[in-house]
Amino acid sequence: MTWNRHTTHVQDGDLVLLVGQRHKHFMITLKAGMEFHTHRGILKHDDLIGLPWGTQIYSHTDAPFYIFSPSLADVLRDMPRNTQILYPKDIGFILLTTGIGPGSRVIEAGTGSGAMTTALAHSVGADGQVYSYENRKAMQVLAKKNLRRLGLEERVEFKVRDIEEGFDESDVDVIFLDVRNPHDYISQMRAALKPGGYFASLLPTFNQVEELLLALNKSQFAFIEVCEIMLRYYKPQSSRLRPTDRMIAHTGFLLFARRVEKVDRPEELEKGDLS
Ligand SMILES: C[S@@+](CC[C@H](N)C(=O)[O-])C[C@H]1O[C@@H](n2cnc3c(N)ncnc32)[C@H](O)[C@@H]1O
Repeated sequence: MTWNRHTTHVQDGDLVLLVGQRHKHFMITLKAGMEFHTHRGILKHDDLIGLPWGTQIYSHTDAPFYIFSPSLADVLRDMPRNTQILYPKDIGFILLTTGIGPGSRVIEAGTGSGAMTTALAHSVGADGQVYSYENRKAMQVLAKKNLRRLGLEERVEFKVRDIEEGFDESDVDVIFLDVRNPHDYISQMRAALKPGGYFASLLPTFNQVEELLLALNKSQFAFIEVCEIMLRYYKPQSSRLRPTDRMIAHTGFLLFARRVEKVDRPEELEKGDLS
């Protein structure tokens, strides 16, 4: 299976996104000789192999589909899950703010269903490394399967552990925590993060943000930012452009902080003057 080949034409073994009427979509891996059955008819994989990406095709009942190479957001939207997963709007901002890119070494916890793991593995490239911690073994079974399907498994070291016990790595570029009580793991997190490195967390409630701020202020973290990403879609009709009727009102608050080393006047940190 190959995802994201940067090709112009569909090839045998590609992961493809089929988009039908009313944006109904399916993600499948093409295999010569196979058929894909939907409630809107059958598509033969052989008829799709060799087409330019973006081509409109028809099932045997004449239902139309477009064929695309799935984007990272497409992959995350369709990812099988057994936990709450991060949304693309939050993932995108976390990656940009912390500067995660090719060659980065990143720790995350918990693995959950592996949505963030997938985005991290995609971003760090073949030369980077993701260390993903999760205290419930069963969770990582699904996450590993999700990463394997995308050919990203080798960029991730999965570890079954309660992060209370600490991390094996040191001097990583970024640590991202998506657990209920990140404030309880600040010393473990600081021990694994490189000087000046970024810590980030997603927290659904104000109360969690408050606890995390208190803990970070005591542990030499500075330039703390708390924000929330709001995303509103519009109906793309030129004659009556307006927002869609529904939106996701809340996912979580994002918190970013940097590990700092030399503080001449530590009382400034406690007052939040360096935030
Ligand atoms: C909301 S899910 C993470 C979802 C993940 N970020 C994603 O995008 O798919 C939180 C996960 O953290 C795990 N977790 C909670 N506390 C933990 C701890 N102390 N150590 C390791 N994992 C923990 C939970 O078991 C759960 O699977």
